[in-house]
Amino acid sequence: MKTYIDNLPKAELHLHIEGTLEPELLFEIANRNHIKIPFESVEAVKAAYQFNCLQDFLDIYYQGAEVLLYERDFYELTYRYLEKCKDQNVKHVEIMFDPQTHTNRGISFQSVITGIRRAMEDAQKHLHVSSFLILSFLRHLSEEAAFETLQQALPFKSWIKAVGLDSSEKGNPPSKFKRVFKAAVQEGWIPLAHAGEEGDATYIWEAIDLLKVQRIDHGNNALQDPNLVAELVKRNVALTVCPLSNKALQVVKSLEEHPLKKMMDVGLKVTVNSDDPAYFGGGINRNFEEIQKALQLGKNELYTIARNSFEYSLLDDKRKQQHLTELETYHLNNMTL
Ligand code: ADE
Ligand code: ZN
Repeated sequence: MKTYIDNLPKAELHLHIEGTLEPELLFEIANRNHIKIPFESVEAVKAAYQFNCLQDFLDIYYQGAEVLLYERDFYELTYRYLEKCKDQNVKHVEIMFDPQTHTNRGISFQSVITGIRRAMEDAQKHLHVSSFLILSFLRHLSEEAAFETLQQALPFKSWIKAVGLDSSEKGNPPSKFKRVFKAAVQEGWIPLAHAGEEGDATYIWEAIDLLKVQRIDHGNNALQDPNLVAELVKRNVALTVCPLSNKALQVVKSLEEHPLKKMMDVGLKVTVNSDDPAYFGGGINRNFEEIQKALQLGKNELYTIARNSFEYSLLDDKRKQQHLTELETYHLNNMTL
């Protein structure tokens, strides 16, 4: 099964670039930029990655991002992740970035986005991994701050495919960002949002009704409300699920209790993703492998998940079809091995 998963052509739709900062690179960049970090070694950093909830993680994640100062840092971070995509047979990745995490420290929006964008272009050329960029607003900050970020992004409008909403969910419902999402849609960006990770089903209702999102990031708590499930199925809104993240942040007690299979059984469209792989113990293939084992998923179910990753990506229909054809050939040749 591991070989089937490792070689399965797939897309990743839920990935925070700041969450790909491996401890080794954290040290390398911190040394180069003369930034002191409160850890002695890579092992000490890894030992600190114990989380009781989303906020525990976010505190460490924002601290880690403080080593990123220059365009070169964002380039390296992104290119290294895209190399990992290549190694894991990820053909296409939709990368979220949190500009406010950087602009609030005095880093220019331009340095951040130019570094990321150059790496995306180089990866397309040299690794044949395609990628889109999702500008994610930090929901613990104000809507006014999100509007400022939107303004800063406008000179780079064509580099951005979609907008997202992340950070501390509880107490920061989608309704807080209704107007800024409307403005983003008017600019031609596609609306997406985290919802139902720690927040209840009402957060997902608001994301689909008020922000008009095409996909929900996480969406675990959708199963609390059968009417919501029916609506997500009817509106064809997919959930980008992140099993190892859910385990690390104690959204689920164990992977055996993860709702992914139940979601599929009730007709929801789900994908499997790594969220913040440097913090949660593994990349996308590890997420597939662990959830497969825990829930006893068969190859047909894994194939469905990989199909969803292309079908619910933001690629155009022609590119989707090319990936789906390659995937189908792969599955037909490997389903009985
Ligand atoms: N930012 C990075 N990872 C996140 C997650 N899992 N939930 C909310 N915000 C995030
Ligand atoms: Zn996320």
